[in-house]
Amino acid sequence: MQPARTCLAIVLAAGEGTRMKSARPKVLHEVAGRSLLSHVLAAVTTAGADALAVVIGPDRPDVAAEVRKHAPHAAVFIQSERKGTAHAVLAARESLAGKHDDVLVAFADTPLVRPETFADLRKALHGGVGVAALGFEAKDPAGYGRFVTQEGALHAIVEHKDADEATRRITLCNAGLMALNGHKALAILDAIGCANAQNEYYLTDAVAVARAQGLKTVARVAPEAEVQGVNDRVQLAAVEADFQRRKRLEAMLAGATLIAPETVFFSHDTVIGRDVLIEPNVVFGPGVKVADNAVIHAFSHLEGASVGPSASIGPYARLRPGAELAKGARVGNFVEIKAAAIGEGAKVNHLTYIGDAEIGANANIGAGTITCNYDGFVKSKTIIGEGAFVGSNSALVAPVTIGAGAYVGSGSVITRDVKPDALAIARGRQMEREGWASAFRAAAQARKARQ
Ligand code: UD1
Ligand code: CA
Repeated sequence: MQPARTCLAIVLAAGEGTRMKSARPKVLHEVAGRSLLSHVLAAVTTAGADALAVVIGPDRPDVAAEVRKHAPHAAVFIQSERKGTAHAVLAARESLAGKHDDVLVAFADTPLVRPETFADLRKALHGGVGVAALGFEAKDPAGYGRFVTQEGALHAIVEHKDADEATRRITLCNAGLMALNGHKALAILDAIGCANAQNEYYLTDAVAVARAQGLKTVARVAPEAEVQGVNDRVQLAAVEADFQRRKRLEAMLAGATLIAPETVFFSHDTVIGRDVLIEPNVVFGPGVKVADNAVIHAFSHLEGASVGPSASIGPYARLRPGAELAKGARVGNFVEIKAAAIGEGAKVNHLTYIGDAEIGANANIGAGTITCNYDGFVKSKTIIGEGAFVGSNSALVAPVTIGAGAYVGSGSVITRDVKPDALAIARGRQMEREGWASAFRAAAQARKARQ
């Protein structure tokens, strides 16, 4: 068996992103709950890149930190002056000298490219190919580099600004991504000059240069939606919309029912099991897992939560990070759960806040129950045993434990532990005066008549 080809991915992230009109660097803006940059880092890694280099602009510790967070082993290079895409790639010269078989170049502002597409570009390098470039059929080609092809072979890429009338009529455009033969890449890149309309070192010239060096160059084509880039907030929203379309399809094809898919919003890492039912208007933040046969009723919001098999949440439920629902647990309308484990078959059905808690199997938490978990300084824990019954409108002042099978009377403010199987009532005692109301009314009417 042949040894696997090694691969270096160079991710260009030195753009200024002025059109975002943002204090935040463009590549740190998010799609489906994670940065554009981390989408690209993940895709090239899945495509088999075993070495990563990220080229960032000067004074961008925030971008460097994002790289360290998602790809701790990546080398970070600073392009101190923006002199074009080839110049940016060469900022990573040190990594390029590393003799990788394949070199992938990706743009950090083009987040939807699938790992399969990167892998196909790598495959295209087999058989003496020096450069494989990724193109797309553009609805509106203005502004893009054009693929000049002859008999199916890629001859050159001509930037819009350098193109003549005939070349501008070409609709097969450059997506910007490229794979280069790793053993030839430096020689190709070093031969690129800047005699063009923008006086920039164009990565696109790698095609003509490679041909001049006797290497083959080829094109691969991807759908336009997959290679769309982000330059402003309108394009950011367009990319988000396409990502969501993709995730919804994935969820449905994997066996989940989405009644109104266009109203369900996933995070990049949402995991949905089989025969899950998701009603309209549900939002998944990062870190959510939903097991088989669970039901997510309408208007629920989940983040960092795990929903067990056959569990049910909502309508109008909010699961915050650390919410863990076991099999068959039920969390109903206007209930918020944070950092709490809800045991098998337990019910928290209405108008409740459960934070920093453990709720045993089959416990029943009445409407309006609040765990008072925070005193302004520290968070404390509430533990509710199996089969316990907490009456409506109770306040459980943590730290506190309600024993298994215990009852808490409605409207109680529980400040001390309750023993298993006990009844705890902590509320004002009811008093009653017979006939008081009619006597009150008679006296009041007499007073009014005298005035
Ligand atoms: C580039 C391509 C063009 C293609 C288009 C697709 C070149 C010369 N042109 O053009 O053929 O159709 O993308 O969107 O490659 N960058 C740096 N440093 C630089 C310049 C760019 O890091 O000095 C990064 C940018 O941050 C961006 C990417 O490279 O992520 C592309 O740069 P950009 O200026 O947007 O290139 P285009 O003119 O759009
Ligand atoms: Ca661009």
